[in-house]
Amino acid sequence: MNYNEAVEKLQKFGQTHVLKYYDELLESQKLELLAQIEATDFSVTALCNNASYEVEKGVITPLAAMQLSEIEANKEEFRTLGVDAIKKGKVGAVLLAGGMGTRLGSDDPKGMYNIGLTKDVYIFERIVNNLMDVVKETSTWIHLFIMTSDKNHDATTRFFKEHDYFGYNQEYVTFFMQEMAPAADYNGKVYMEEKGKIATSPNGNGGWFISMAKWGVLDIVKKAGIEWLNIFAVDNVLQRIADPIFVGATIANNAAVGSKVVRKAAPDEKVGVMCLEDGRPSIVEYYEITDEMMNAKDENGDPAYNFGVILNYLFKVCDLEEIMNKHMPLHIVEKKIPYIDENGKYVNPEAPNGYKFENLVLDMIHLLDSCLPFEVVRNKEFAPIKNKTGVDSVESARELLKQNGVEL
Ligand code: UTP
Repeated sequence: MNYNEAVEKLQKFGQTHVLKYYDELLESQKLELLAQIEATDFSVTALCNNASYEVEKGVITPLAAMQLSEIEANKEEFRTLGVDAIKKGKVGAVLLAGGMGTRLGSDDPKGMYNIGLTKDVYIFERIVNNLMDVVKETSTWIHLFIMTSDKNHDATTRFFKEHDYFGYNQEYVTFFMQEMAPAADYNGKVYMEEKGKIATSPNGNGGWFISMAKWGVLDIVKKAGIEWLNIFAVDNVLQRIADPIFVGATIANNAAVGSKVVRKAAPDEKVGVMCLEDGRPSIVEYYEITDEMMNAKDENGDPAYNFGVILNYLFKVCDLEEIMNKHMPLHIVEKKIPYIDENGKYVNPEAPNGYKFENLVLDMIHLLDSCLPFEVVRNKEFAPIKNKTGVDSVESARELLKQNGVEL
């Protein structure tokens, strides 16, 4: 794209300020900026004009979860099925580590955070150790695919190398990068993070499968004969990955996706809840839950919308391939976005100053025909690290790790 073409494209979207410092740039920087303008989808910024925009929901009805008692009664059958699938190489794991972890307030990738007290215990290390439990149980290496973003790829790959993959078999670890989207102020003007670079942010955790395809990682999945992909968030340090019982239950139920869920601690707890929307599996975010839903009861008199998702899903690969080109809604998320101000000075804001644009995994679930919500014990499998202190923090996760016998 040449300069005039760039101006034309920017004018169309009201973004000509992107070229404000163009004349000050080195030749190589000019070329990089023109290439970025060509590659950027500015149409997403139109969403800022309608900040209260959220995707319209259909008719919501309950979706029963497989609860602990039922799981316990069928545990050995599920385990046998799951172990068999893992031993045959049919299960892979996908670590979603492309996020920015802005709430934690560290510039490093979240997985590099050291939660140890008397020794080093990194989040990535905890994740690998948890997966190793299943590797040992099944005597089988499980492919681990790690999604990074432009913002943290180099640091993440370097960290794994420096720590010798925390003892994992390097041949079974593959990194791939997710796509980026521009970040904009409240009026939809994209921010600049350098004089020659538009501010970008990872485009959410919903693009992981498409990014796997774009990076050629899907070829590894196919070649290895992987039929199920267990995706999970980097920040749950009690995360059980490729859990044979969960794998077996999802297979036995012939579900397109299995979703680990926890019983809600309170009706208004801030977790997304599994349900059906127009008869298809779906997740209602906590801020979308109505009083009617909070008070609804199932046939046993228990709350009908009682199971929250913990971002641990087991997807059937062939079903994902069918939906991968279907449209997914874009969500706008308020965030702190570092930028260059009108005087050319770099600003790292203390409070949110604009929006980023994201696709979310939960929208993939809604494109699938069936989902098995699978209950797990919260204190054993859910210790998210979102914040530095308070709820879902380093402190609360440390407490839960200790309860589970992990030395810190
Ligand atoms: P969060 O929704 O907690 O977002 O991610 P985040 O960016 O990590 O953290 P904050 O909101 O800025 O503090 C949930 C999971 O999805 C991954 C994260 O790495 C985490 O495992 N994720 C999120 C991605 O892989 N890519 C994204 O673009 C966003």
